[in-house]
Amino acid sequence: MLELPGQVVPRPFSICLAPKGELAFLIDPVGPVTRRLCELERGREISVFGPLGNGFRTDVDRPLLVGGGIGVAPLPYASQLMGKPPAILGFRTRRHAEAAKLVPNAEVCIEPKLVTELIPAVPMDVLACGPEPMLHAVHALVSDAQLAWEAPMACGFGACYGCVVEFQGRSVRLCVEGPILNGRPPVLPILGESEEGVE
Ligand code: FES
Repeated sequence: MLELPGQVVPRPFSICLAPKGELAFLIDPVGPVTRRLCELERGREISVFGPLGNGFRTDVDRPLLVGGGIGVAPLPYASQLMGKPPAILGFRTRRHAEAAKLVPNAEVCIEPKLVTELIPAVPMDVLACGPEPMLHAVHALVSDAQLAWEAPMACGFGACYGCVVEFQGRSVRLCVEGPILNGRPPVLPILGESEEGVE
């Protein structure tokens, strides 16, 4: 979560790259907070807390990274960790597609072509991040795909229920049980749950 000075609620962002001693975030300046973040001068301090929730399972046999729009944000780091597997990235415009330069071995498509048209028919271990309609479409094609879902977040530790989404008939707090649906278990124990289930 990133929090600007004077900002009431922090905002969740994926780690895009993590060179030694640094964290990089890919931010599209589409609203007041993201614009202020992008306008920060070098050396200005902001609050960062995390990592929260879970992450992608990276120990898979046939990895394929699938990203849409600003949803490509976590894929450069995932690609580094996984030895630069193939990737399929989709964007609305050529300008947005500039972000594809951060992901090695990427095949890029621009709307109206969709990433789901490029997913091969052979079984692959898909790690996907992008807008919700894209994630639904990927899930329909690859039922065990790992899906990085998105929702507004406030507390970041499971208390406010502001980030709940419905997935496979279950309510999921993305900040602690996600944001990767079908991903690896969360780093921290989930508040309010025991080994036997929800208390
Ligand atoms: Fe508060 Fe997830 S952000 S429960």
